Order: sequence, then C-alpha cells, then structure tokens
Amino acid sequence: MKTLHSVFLLVSLVLAWSVAIAGADKATMERGAKVYKGYCSTCHQANGQGLSTIYPPLAKSDYLKNQPKEKVIESVVFGLKGPITVNGKKYNGVMNPMPSTYKDEDIAAVITYVYNSWGNPGTVVTVEDVRKVKAAKKGGKK
Ligand code: HEC
Repeated sequence: MKTLHSVFLLVSLVLAWSVAIAGADKATMERGAKVYKGYCSTCHQANGQGLSTIYPPLAKSDYLKNQPKEKVIESVVFGLKGPITVNGKKYNGVMNPMPSTYKDEDIAAVITYVYNSWGNPGTVVTVEDVRKVKAAKKGGKK
C-alpha cells in the first residue's frame, strides 16, 4: 500500500510539473519543430544560434523578447528588413515573407516553438493571433 501511495504521489508531482512548464502543448511543439527544421533553420540554424553577421540568433534573442508578439508574427508572415540590433549585434538584412503554402497552424506552431526554446520567454501564439495579424495587415493597419 505504501508503495502504491508513493507511486501516486510521484505521478501527480510529475503531472503538476509538466503542466507548470508547458506553456505550449506537445503537439504544437512537435509541429513547430518540424516547420522550424524544414524552413527557419536554413538561416537561423538548428539551435537558433544564427549565422555570422547575416542571420540573427533566435536563441535568447533580446529583440524577440522585447517585441510584442503581434510584431513578431508580422515579421515572420510578411517579412522583415532594415537595421535591427539583436543581443548587441547589428543586422541589416532581409527576411522574406513565409511561403503561403504554410498554414496558419504552422505559423502559430513555429513561432510558439521558437518562443519556447533556447531560453526564450515561453510565449504562446495561437492560430487566432496569426489570423488577427493577417487581418490587420489587410486592413492597411500597421
Ligand atoms: C532565408 C533566410 C531566413 C529564413 C528562412 C528565416 N529567417 Fe528570420 N530572419 C532572417 C534575417 C536576414 C533576419 C534579419 C532581418 C533584418 O536585418 O531586418 C531575420 C530576423 C528574424 C527575427 C527577428 C530578429 C531576431 O533574431 O530575433 C525573427 C524573430 C525571425 N527572423 C524568426 C524566423 C522564423 C520563426 C523563421 C521560420 C518560420 C524564420 N525567421 C525564417 C532570415 C531568415
């Protein structure tokens, strides 16, 4: 009986712990990881470390942390160009819009994956968030 009790205790502890750390659910993270590997990692590299002075890091990126998530969604969906500073280094490149073959679910998942990897703040991006940003852009709002 005592062993059984300990097992229950352990299981509930593990459950409570995983709920606490999981800002993003497992399926979203897996989907996001796939999109990341298939697309973003070409430039930002496998562990988000970036590449020389051309591709800024996503790992522990202060830029990412300090932008509202709407702005990050907009950059990924519609592209980003011009001078930015990431972790004290200056970049002045061009990120193209994400190919339209990716679904809103893919976009939400990959940004959530980036936000929940490599020491980033753990923000969750939903499909709703992505649709709002797209709608706002269409309406001509920045
Ligand atoms: C073809 C190369 C390329 C691909 C693919 C790419 N990016 Fe970028 N990304 C860039 C460049 C270049 C910049 C910097 C743009 C500038 O200097 O204004 C950038 C900037 C960023 C930034 C803001 C700066 C930072 O480091 O925090 C984020 C966030 C970002 N990319 C996320 C993504 C995500 C997520 C994907 C995949 C969905 C992706 N990028 C795919 C080239 C790329």
